[in-house]
Amino acid sequence: MNIPLLDLNRQYRAIRPEIEAAIARVVQSGRFILGPEVEAFENEVAAYCGAKHAIGVASGSDALLLALRAAGVGPGDRVITTPFTFFATAGAIWNLGAVPVFIDIEPQTYNISPQALAEALESSTDLQERAKAIIPVHLYGQMAEMDPISEIARRYELTVIEDAAQAIGAEYRGRKAGTVGRLGCFSFFPSKNLGACGDGGMIITDDDELAEKLRLLRVHGSRPKYYHQLVGYNSRLDALQAAILRAKLPYLDRWSAARAAHAAGYDRALAELPGIETPPVAPERTHIYHQYTVRVLGGRRDEVRKSLKERGIGTGIYYPLPLHLQACFASLGYREGDFPQAERASREVLSLPIFPELAEEEREYVVSTIQQVQRAD
Ligand SMILES: Cc1ncc(COP(=O)(O)O)c(C=O)c1O
Repeated sequence: MNIPLLDLNRQYRAIRPEIEAAIARVVQSGRFILGPEVEAFENEVAAYCGAKHAIGVASGSDALLLALRAAGVGPGDRVITTPFTFFATAGAIWNLGAVPVFIDIEPQTYNISPQALAEALESSTDLQERAKAIIPVHLYGQMAEMDPISEIARRYELTVIEDAAQAIGAEYRGRKAGTVGRLGCFSFFPSKNLGACGDGGMIITDDDELAEKLRLLRVHGSRPKYYHQLVGYNSRLDALQAAILRAKLPYLDRWSAARAAHAAGYDRALAELPGIETPPVAPERTHIYHQYTVRVLGGRRDEVRKSLKERGIGTGIYYPLPLHLQACFASLGYREGDFPQAERASREVLSLPIFPELAEEEREYVVSTIQQVQRAD
C-alpha cells in the first residue's frame, strides 16, 4: 500500500462540481480582489466562529503580522510565544522589529505552558515592562490552556493574539479557537483543515476599532482610495480563494469529525504499544486533529519514520528544530537546554496520515506496520 501523509486530490474529487462552480462564478464576475465573495466568506467565518468581525488577508503569516500591527506592537516590544510552532509565529514578531520571547510547552498538549509563562513574567520586571502581547498557538488542532493564559495576560496587560492557523473549529470550554483572545488568526494554506487552492488567511475579532484598522492595513492604509491614513501592506484574500473556501466551509465540521474518528482508531490501536505515546486530549477541549502526532520514545523516531517510508507510509515531523535554536534567531541568545520540553518534542514527534478521506483499511495498515516495526526489536 502507498499511504501519503495527506492526499488533497481525494477531497477535490469528492466536491469537484462545487469547487468548479465557485471558480467559474468568480472568473465570470471579473471581481478578483476583495469584493462580494470575500465579504460573504468573511461573514460566514465570523458566524461559524461566533466573532463579530472577520478580515480576509493574503496568508496566515500575514494574519499574524497585521494582528500584531493592529495591536500596536512595534520595534523593541516583547511578544511572548512558544518555541514549538511553525516559523511564521515568531517571524511575524521579528518582521515588526519586535522581539520574540519564548516560553516552554506542556509535554501533553505541546502548547505554551501557563505555569512557565507565569514564572517568566513574575521573575522579570524587564519582561513585565516590555511585553506587549502574547501569541498562544493551538498546535496540531488542540487549543492551548486559554483561561490561565488570559488571566496572566490581564494581569500584565498583554494583548492575546491566538495563532489558530491549525485549529479552526476547535473548542476550549465551548469557545471556538480564535474567539478567546482579542484577535484570532487563521491560515487557509492548502493542507489546513479548511484549505484554499493557494494562500489565504483571516483575522477575527470582536473589537470594532481593531477590525477597522485591519481593513485599512491590508490595503496600504488607503481610505478613500489613494489617500493613505497609515502605511500598511498589500495583503488581501483574493476572491477565487474566498469562493473555493465558501464551497468547503459547510463540510468543515464533518471533515474534522472524520479526522477525530481516525484519531480515536489510532488511539485504540496504539495506546498500549511500547515505545509509542498517543496524543492525549486535555479536559474540556475538542481536538480537530489537523495532525495526529505520536511520540516515538527511545531515540527511535527517525528510524521508525524510515521504516514506515520503506513500507509506503508518509509521515511528518512538526517541527524538527524549535524556534529558539534556529540560525536566524541566534542573536536572541538562546541555547540548547533552555526549553527542554520543546527540544524533547522536536526529537520525538511523528505525525501519521490523517485526513477525512483516509480509508479505514489504510489506517489499519499504518497501525499494523507501526506495530511490526516496534515489535521487530
Ligand atoms: C501555527 C501556524 N502559524 C502560522 C502559519 C502560517 O500560515 P500561512 O502558511 O498561511 O502563512 C501556519 C501554517 O502554515 C501555522 O501552522
